[in-house]
Amino acid sequence: MQRDRDILISCEPGVYTPAEDTLLMLGAVNISRDERVLEMGCGTGMVSVHCAKGGAVVTAADVNPEAVKCTKTNASRNDVLVNVVESDLFENIRGTFDLILFNPPYLRGEGRIMEDKAWAGGPNGTETLFRFLEAAVPHLDKNGRIIVIVSSDMDQAALDKVLRPFHVKELASMRLFFEELRVLELRPVSGRPRSVF
Ligand SMILES: C[S@@+](CC[C@H](N)C(=O)[O-])C[C@H]1O[C@@H](n2cnc3c(N)ncnc32)[C@H](O)[C@@H]1O
Repeated sequence: MQRDRDILISCEPGVYTPAEDTLLMLGAVNISRDERVLEMGCGTGMVSVHCAKGGAVVTAADVNPEAVKCTKTNASRNDVLVNVVESDLFENIRGTFDLILFNPPYLRGEGRIMEDKAWAGGPNGTETLFRFLEAAVPHLDKNGRIIVIVSSDMDQAALDKVLRPFHVKELASMRLFFEELRVLELRPVSGRPRSVF
């Protein structure tokens, strides 16, 4: 999806400011009209608002109440409908989706305060991604797909293990000064999944 310069996104204190990873995800995602999309960890809602403007039926979720507020504001100021839910991963998410997106916290570290949860993916960098993938699969429709960002900062052996139950296609990548980011499309190896773990 191309960045739409008519879309205005504001960021509030305590909410992840859209950065290179946000734009990398945006550029790698393609949606069809009426596709049911869930964006986990929506932050300002930049990607969700683009998907909604493109005709998708969008649910956006974040564990951070400030991000939930911010996404609601950005959806309404851009005149699109986004169902925004405060949720620790799938805790408050019902139903299935054609596409589930997550630009997760992917750096090594513990998210002790809410603001740290934007970047701290656990001691290996993969723990939040693992919990997300485990819970995401039952929310995926038949032929559904998951798109995530991963980093070279993650423990690569742990990452290989986390990705093992999926067919993986790299959609985009970007080298930053201390890491490489990749956008991956994941489809469960076992077809229609309940759980693949
Ligand atoms: C790297 S930021 C990405 C924000 C936004 N999607 C973007 O690309 O600009 C990660 C986001 O995931 C959220 N997050 C972290 N852990 C979460 C969890 N357990 N459940 C839901 N959201 C979570 C953070 O609050 C943060 O908004």
